[in-house]
Amino acid sequence: MMRAVVVAATLLLGVGAVVAQQDAVKHAQGFMKGNGKNAGALAAMIKGDKPYDQATVDTAIAQFEDTAKNLPTLFPESIKGVKAEGDYSPSPKIWEDQAGFSEHIASFAKAVADAKVAIKDIDSLKATLPVIGKQCGGCHETYRVKNS
Ligand code: HEC
Repeated sequence: MMRAVVVAATLLLGVGAVVAQQDAVKHAQGFMKGNGKNAGALAAMIKGDKPYDQATVDTAIAQFEDTAKNLPTLFPESIKGVKAEGDYSPSPKIWEDQAGFSEHIASFAKAVADAKVAIKDIDSLKATLPVIGKQCGGCHETYRVKNS
């Protein structure tokens, strides 16, 4: 009886840890989904599907800034090896190469800060979005894995 209680309690603790992991993964994904949505809104203006709109630019930049600020804590070691729901998961390299990951965060933050000053019209948006896109892609290439 006692043993059954202990086993049940241990199982519950295990379930709690898994739920916490999934929450942390979802939290990080929430920022990334926001990034994707905002980058898409900027790309739509470049393609000419939408007219240039400074408010959309400002919203996107603010969200990228928020992401850059949160990135250092978005991937706690406790979620290493967790497979996220959806198409992508964090790569174990985030924790195996913490210095490299931090460098990517810093260069992303710098690109966003520069873009905030630079983007004033469609031409400067066209010139600047690829610079940010390179930062997104550069981090994904190494620190994001496609779920199989
Ligand atoms: C410093 C690293 C880093 C930077 C910079 C970064 N990402 Fe990510 N991104 C990740 C990681 C790691 C994942 C996979 C885990 C996750 O989704 O949280 C991811 C996942 C994503 C996803 C998939 C989310 C889903 O639905 O599962 C999208 C979309 C995305 N990023 C867009 C962007 C865009 C757009 C930018 C640039 C504006 C960006 N990211 C910048 C690391 C980064």
